[in-house]
Amino acid sequence: MALAWQYPLFCLLLVLLLLYYPTSAQISRNISLGSFLRAENTDSYWASPSGDFAFGFHQIGTGGYLLAIWFDKIQEKTIVWSANGNNMVPRGSKVELTKDGHFVLNDPAGKEMWKAELFGSRVAYAAMLDTGNFVLATEDSRNSWETFDHPTDTMLPTMTMSQPIKLVARYSEANYSNGRFQLTLQSDGNLVLETRAFPLDLSNAAYWSSNTIGSGFQLVFDPSGSVYLTAKDRSPLKMITSNGGSTKDFYQRAILEHDGVFRHYIYPKNPTISSARRPSEGWSPMSTFIPSNICTAITQLAGAGACGFNSYCKLGDDHRPSCLCPDGYTFIDPDDVMKGCKQNFLPQSCEESLSETDRFDFRYMPNTDWPLSDYEIFYGQTEDWCWEACLGDCFCAVAIFRNGGCFKKRVPLSNGRMNSSITGMALIKIRKDNSTLSLNPSSAALKKKDLFVLILSGFQKALLFQDPVGGLRPGPHCPAPHLRISVEISHNGPAVEHVGSTATVD
Ligand SMILES: *[C@@H]1O[C@H](CO)[C@@H](O)[C@H](O)[C@H]1NC(C)=O
Ligand SMILES: *[C@@H]1O[C@H](CO)[C@@H](O)[C@H](O)[C@H]1NC(C)=O
Ligand SMILES: *[C@@H]1O[C@H](CO)[C@@H](O)[C@H](O)[C@H]1NC(C)=O
Ligand SMILES: *[C@@H]1O[C@H](CO)[C@@H](O)[C@H](O)[C@H]1NC(C)=O
Repeated sequence: MALAWQYPLFCLLLVLLLLYYPTSAQISRNISLGSFLRAENTDSYWASPSGDFAFGFHQIGTGGYLLAIWFDKIQEKTIVWSANGNNMVPRGSKVELTKDGHFVLNDPAGKEMWKAELFGSRVAYAAMLDTGNFVLATEDSRNSWETFDHPTDTMLPTMTMSQPIKLVARYSEANYSNGRFQLTLQSDGNLVLETRAFPLDLSNAAYWSSNTIGSGFQLVFDPSGSVYLTAKDRSPLKMITSNGGSTKDFYQRAILEHDGVFRHYIYPKNPTISSARRPSEGWSPMSTFIPSNICTAITQLAGAGACGFNSYCKLGDDHRPSCLCPDGYTFIDPDDVMKGCKQNFLPQSCEESLSETDRFDFRYMPNTDWPLSDYEIFYGQTEDWCWEACLGDCFCAVAIFRNGGCFKKRVPLSNGRMNSSITGMALIKIRKDNSTLSLNPSSAALKKKDLFVLILSGFQKALLFQDPVGGLRPGPHCPAPHLRISVEISHNGPAVEHVGSTATVD
């Protein structure tokens, strides 16, 4: 390990000067056949000649070791590539450039966990380059495999992506498993951001596109610090992120982050430059990122949207999305908000005879919507009407009232977002208390009795019998479901109007 320090510095510099040519041969020091690294307590790695990048094992919390490339001269040791994000390996695992030129990661028992897929030409040595590219090269210094051709979620300056290729966002900030979003340079030349059919390696649908079908060719991270699409003649076609300043003064990376946003970050190599250009140290994002509002960018039939099911997404002042639960809902897993929110109350009973309408209430949330979760839509109604329609409907979890439109939503709610441009009011239905009807034996008896009465006496009588039973009496906001259904069935006219009139009667 740490072969970098086997050479005196001046030799290293000499080699650097002699062998510096721009493409595959930017190699100053060879990792020879038979070399290996072992996952140990301290990070074990091969550094690039400048020391800017390192290739090796990086311990991730207590989860195990990631075979990765990272910025080694900065405190954060930011990871830019990894081999086994879905499959961390334990201490004692070994990555080896074998004598016969294979590059393999084995666990301590010798089981193969990952390997570089090589085709044809025989590998003679490996090298960690100063660009952040780790290469397996042939005798005549051609790269037969390189991490720049197999990116994970990050692009680095001098890297070019050729179609078809994709970046896959990690699951969360500290979890390097494949996540929910990908950036794909399609064979048709279009660059798209897509949601993934997690946990499968398939895409759902695009939420951003470069609109370059037929004209886009490669995605280039220019050494001058911008990411752009090229046309087939290699001329710049479309800027993706703005110029990040010179790569001489700043470390740079462009990453599809776990929240589905493609961001370009810079990091001052020399702190004095940072104070001139930027107040803070560390990685700072360029002001353009894609999409500009992830919360509103994703509106898809399949999947949860930018956040988990039953949650909503709100863009913060830092332009980062937050996933939040509406009132009455809590995170399924507070450590993994993308798992979504659950109702922290028993759902409304759908037994008509046990109408629970007076046990429920609404919380008001302005500027909030869950598009595509509608199962019933009514126009030309009042907010009161919408309120009552949702309250009396056991399927209704949320109603959105907007300009006379009443949109009943079912769970799980998806594509939730809060944005000041969203008009109208979201009515979140929640149970007033934690009473558990299903666990109450007397309610089971009540159910049977009610059913009996219902069969004998018909709708109106059933309603009368319900009245004396505590808590089940239809109140002013509780249109009796029986009555409503009978009205809907017995009229062929616009049922909505009739429901509206019955709902206000009591
Ligand atoms: C990362 O997330 C995936 C998906 O939820 C999970 O299966 C895996 O256990 C997580 N890995 C770690 C190290 O927490
Ligand atoms: C690396 O190995 C190749 C092939 O053996 C050789 O041509 C090249 O000079 C070596 N580079 C260094 C820096 O040793
Ligand atoms: C979100 O609200 C902001 C502020 O009103 C507005 O500028 C922006 O266009 C809205 N975004 C969308 C996608 O509607
Ligand atoms: C209902 O139960 C949940 C979880 O058991 C609890 O967090 C919540 O405070 C309870 N709400 C009321 C109104 O008692």
